[in-house]
Amino acid sequence: MNKPKKTQVEIKKTGFPFVVWGAMVVVAMIGIAVALFRFSPVQEAYAVDGRDSLPEITVYKSPTCGCCTDWEVHLEKEGFKVISHKERNMNRIKKSLGVKSHLASCHTAVIDGYVIEGHVPANDIKRLLKERPPVAGLTAPGMPQHSPGMQPPGERPRGYSVLTFDKEGRTRVFTRY
Ligand code: CU
Ligand code: CU
Repeated sequence: MNKPKKTQVEIKKTGFPFVVWGAMVVVAMIGIAVALFRFSPVQEAYAVDGRDSLPEITVYKSPTCGCCTDWEVHLEKEGFKVISHKERNMNRIKKSLGVKSHLASCHTAVIDGYVIEGHVPANDIKRLLKERPPVAGLTAPGMPQHSPGMQPPGERPRGYSVLTFDKEGRTRVFTRY
């Protein structure tokens, strides 16, 4: 007579640990998903030295130059937080940061101890922060026509080289476009 009652109790008894087991599987799957995202190339592009976001970049630019602002927009699109300063005496800034005249462009920036001079693509800055070579910084001397900030957004840089430079002003090719 109380047969149906007994089976209900049995289902309840076996059902409870199954729910716990299921919850553990769900937690484990979430953990795997988070781990996969953290080590995916997408996330890696933004993780410099294990940090989750790129460091701030401080940009000094002439108040009258539009290409500098366009370069800042390019950096922001690539995930950088830009702190922008309008500077009337750019020569003073360049001199104080060790940017000699043969290395000079329009704007001068500082990020994480490195100097970035001119229309250097964001990807080169990311690579610099990842590899951390013993140099003063990167430069794209002059005003390369086909560079971020000088050409329409989204176009690939071409026809110039990004150089590393040291305190003495010695350069090496970092990326050839
Ligand atoms: Cu420029
Ligand atoms: Cu400019």
